[in-house]
Amino acid sequence: MNHQQAPILEAIAKYLAIDHAPFYMPGHKRGVGIDPDFIAMMGTNLFRLDLPELPGLDEPIYEAEVLAANAYGSNRTWFLVNGSTSGIAAMMLAVAGIGDKILIGRNCHKAAIAGLVLCGATPIYVETDYNSDFDLDCGISPHSLQTALENNPDAKAVLLVSPNYFGICGDLEKLVEIAHSFNVPILIDGAHGGHLRFHPDLPMDAVTAGADVVVQSIHKMGSSLTQTAMLHIQSKRVNSDRLDQAVQMLQTTSPNILLLASLDVARRQMVLHGQELLDQTMALSNWGRSQINQIPHLYCLDYQAQILHLDPTRLTVMVNQLRKTGFDMDEMLVRDFDVVAEMPTLSQLVFAVSIGNTVADVQKLVQAFQSLANQEKCHNISMPIIPKLPKLHQKLTPRSAFFSPSQSIPLVNAAGHISTETISPYPPGIPIICPGEEITTEIIDFLQLIKNAGGVINGCSDRTLETIKVVI
Ligand SMILES: Cc1ncc(COP(=O)(O)O)c(C=O)c1O
Repeated sequence: MNHQQAPILEAIAKYLAIDHAPFYMPGHKRGVGIDPDFIAMMGTNLFRLDLPELPGLDEPIYEAEVLAANAYGSNRTWFLVNGSTSGIAAMMLAVAGIGDKILIGRNCHKAAIAGLVLCGATPIYVETDYNSDFDLDCGISPHSLQTALENNPDAKAVLLVSPNYFGICGDLEKLVEIAHSFNVPILIDGAHGGHLRFHPDLPMDAVTAGADVVVQSIHKMGSSLTQTAMLHIQSKRVNSDRLDQAVQMLQTTSPNILLLASLDVARRQMVLHGQELLDQTMALSNWGRSQINQIPHLYCLDYQAQILHLDPTRLTVMVNQLRKTGFDMDEMLVRDFDVVAEMPTLSQLVFAVSIGNTVADVQKLVQAFQSLANQEKCHNISMPIIPKLPKLHQKLTPRSAFFSPSQSIPLVNAAGHISTETISPYPPGIPIICPGEEITTEIIDFLQLIKNAGGVINGCSDRTLETIKVVI
């Protein structure tokens, strides 16, 4: 296939030169009706090209998806304009309905819980391996998946996250092999893995590993615009027509052509220059890792931590030895050093290094850590102890809980009640409480700990999390 082409970009480029009387939507009519301050900030081309699916634009979208399928190794690829969030729900709707079981890694993103509410399936949560030395979610082990499938051979699908927020991919080939030995399709939330296929030294991507359906947020680790993702299918275990219907149900009927064009050129860029760009990215992150590892009290996750299948572009820095929480360090990095991390946790800071980062960025990061490590105030605060969280009991399916009559009660009194809400620190957006689960005192204490340490809790109807909605 000719990957020099970018069909959507080429099609919209023609419209730049065309002047016509626009009696279609959007209502700003190629920028004429846009707020002048917005135009002054953004320029005019952006609005001239904010076009609906005009004649001549349909076919290029199809061609661009075919090129993407070829580049990412799938049988069919859909461009998504509502992120992996919509792709995750779509793949769940394609495989399971009310009364069906679906095996889900407990480290799933909250989008998977939304998918459960929509499709009505009963989740069987599979616990992830937890590395207590590094307070690290290491994903689902082959042994855990094997056991879960032996106990639930009637499951309609397995849904796992790979890579996770820390860049840990797990032994995907083995996980796929296990799922397929039970003839169960495996769906991968590969939101963080859209770049993996384009460099041989990166861990294997989920499509290459043989997963049946894979979603990738190209906006996260590629260069497309925020909101954009790709959904890939490569097997007959999942009904492609049903997946297509689900995508259509969950996507807008007016996808923004600029978002689609950004996916088109991100594919072209990766096919033509991906290896070279990712060479530079890995060199940068590896340099940053080695520098950070020379700073007293800091440790940046690497292969020596026995973490196999680790995406080296992701820098996870353990900051707890500095006796500061990741939340405090995050604030200091932004305030005093103009360095913005991807995610703080209690004990870590995660930095997503990608093809858009420069040597200067990583130098700034290293220098910031060198300064922080020298500050006496970093060393004299007592650190919260991170508890190992007990497994919650699922009393209702997420869908039943979501549709149950509910009331708000104070969080401190919520032990023993069933949540109707998804409560997750964000990022990473991994739910601590899923709808249908019974709230425990340990979970309440943990949420208070995260809140008091400066973490952001998301998904709750009461933003302060003083109250929580429970089934009456
Ligand atoms: C593991 C995982 N899956 C899915 C998502 C949702 O992706 P998107 O923002 O593209 O909808 C995220 C977002 O952070 C994520 O971390």
